[in-house]
Amino acid sequence: MKFSPAFIDEVKARNPIEEVVSSYVTLKRAGSNLTGLCPFHSEKTPSFSVSAPNGFFYCFGCGTGGDVISFIMKIENLDYPSAIGFLAKRAGLPLPENPDEKEQGVRRARVLAMNRLAAKYFHSKLMEGGAGLEYLTEKRKLPMPLIKHFGLGFAPDSFGELTNLLTRNGYSAEEMKTAFLCGISPKTGRPYDYFRNRVIFPIIDNAGEVIAFGGRVMDDSLPKYLNTSDTPAFRKSRNLFALNFAKKHCAETMILCEGYMDVIALHGAGFENAVATLGTALTSEQARIMKRYTKKVIISYDADEAGQRAADRAFGILGEVGLETRLLRVEGAKDPDEYIKKFGADRFRKLLEGSRTRFDFQLEGVLKRNNVAENEGKLKAAAEITSIIAAYPSEVERDVYIGQASAALSVPKESLKNDVNRAKISREKRETKEAEEKIMRETRGFGDRINPEKVTFHRGARAEEILLGILLLYPEMLSVLEKEGSVLTPDDLVTEFNRRVLKKLFELKEEDAAISLSLFAEDFSPGEMGKIAKYQIDREKLTDNGEDVVLDCVRIIKEEKAKKTTSLEDLLASKRQKKQDKETTSKG
Ligand code: CTP
Ligand code: MN
Repeated sequence: MKFSPAFIDEVKARNPIEEVVSSYVTLKRAGSNLTGLCPFHSEKTPSFSVSAPNGFFYCFGCGTGGDVISFIMKIENLDYPSAIGFLAKRAGLPLPENPDEKEQGVRRARVLAMNRLAAKYFHSKLMEGGAGLEYLTEKRKLPMPLIKHFGLGFAPDSFGELTNLLTRNGYSAEEMKTAFLCGISPKTGRPYDYFRNRVIFPIIDNAGEVIAFGGRVMDDSLPKYLNTSDTPAFRKSRNLFALNFAKKHCAETMILCEGYMDVIALHGAGFENAVATLGTALTSEQARIMKRYTKKVIISYDADEAGQRAADRAFGILGEVGLETRLLRVEGAKDPDEYIKKFGADRFRKLLEGSRTRFDFQLEGVLKRNNVAENEGKLKAAAEITSIIAAYPSEVERDVYIGQASAALSVPKESLKNDVNRAKISREKRETKEAEEKIMRETRGFGDRINPEKVTFHRGARAEEILLGILLLYPEMLSVLEKEGSVLTPDDLVTEFNRRVLKKLFELKEEDAAISLSLFAEDFSPGEMGKIAKYQIDREKLTDNGEDVVLDCVRIIKEEKAKKTTSLEDLLASKRQKKQDKETTSKG
């Protein structure tokens, strides 16, 4: 679907960037800009800035930037047309009749219909009895009502039963493949069932639609799980297993597990506020979704080291979206599922009540690592805990933890507090220094993922950036590039990324569109948009954006392009020479 530039302008006009961003980020005024903590990377000091007059945002920390459409694309994980649709809806603008979207809707609806059929099929196969039912009831001790509640199923060891059923119902192999219900044999070109000889966990969304499946083997073979990948009806980074049930029971707290089986066991034991991620590490999208339903999350991961590492990461992600977070540790069992089966629901409830903060675990670690009975160990422990506390952004939290640590180490609160403050200052200094160094490296082009050629062709790339910045600010300057003596076409540029940007500028000029950043979002990713926005931001602060600068840039670009071409030709020539030499020697 291609929206008209006029419609896009209307959408943008009705969605002031500061308003839209404010619903995700707390913004504070800083001069003509607004700043806040970047929602796209984790940070403690704000490097995310929004320029309301220009209609764009930029993060000096991670380089993401763009206009309100890029912002929504990134934060809501939507593609360009869907982000426009999202904003149009937000502003109450009716969408123009949209054939593509209709088709997208049809595709989604057909995937859901296939899933519905498949879920019924899997469930009835399970209920027929046999290996699947035996596994779930005997080996995993699931009572029948729980099996029914979750709509569990079984995929028999057959290559064609489900695909045949779907074919009979009018679905093409292509569609089944899109839904991840079949694979296509490269030899025969025919579809075959994707899930075979596995117990099936359907993933159901809040509207009650079956959006995906997970299939577990019944022995130790690998892979342990097969899962539906992303389809028109499913994004695994944006869904949680059992949220459809948990949402009614989690106003206060939610329990976050690793596995389907943990969640099912917990629901069975009366903890209906449990959810799990879907075979991936927790994403910030999932954290934001949880935030919509609950205040507090209790992380209840596996007891092994991997689980505890993942828990530490989850603490960070959940904290960033403002959720209160606790961790519980299952002891004497590998995961919550096993724990409940071994010790029962009451013992698990005790674990929940005893769940602790991230700081509790950090303090415990420090005490374990050091022998605080001796002075040396005590000093080391104090130093470690000091720097841990200094990393907490909230003063109230720091104060509480200082109290806790001072009691645990039996050192005076005041001296610990002084140390924390000192650690905090040096930490901030270090962060500033790191940020400065990062900017230095970036100016030089190191680690530039968007324009990787910059580090090699630094002078040319810099000139291109200045030129593009000016052109974005003053599109009328494009005509300078068409004047005799200073003609510059995209092909003349030294680096590929900037070539794309200039090409787009010329295209927009050709189409007579009013040049604005948002028209780039269609062809450039949010990361790329950030870079382009930065070109413009860098020039905006300056007053020398005239034709003479443009001409200088054109000259430098041409010089550098010539050098690049020559050095390439040299390289090729020397390669040719070497080859010839080789041939002559081998002949001789
Ligand atoms: N997972 C996955 N693919 C794998 C292994 C795991 O998608 N190959 C996901 C599944 O969502 C699984 C979760 O990670 O539920 C946790 O993995 P694990 O603890 O290994 O599985 P459990 O579901 O706990 O299975 P069980 O208790 O039966 O061993
Ligand atoms: Mn497990």
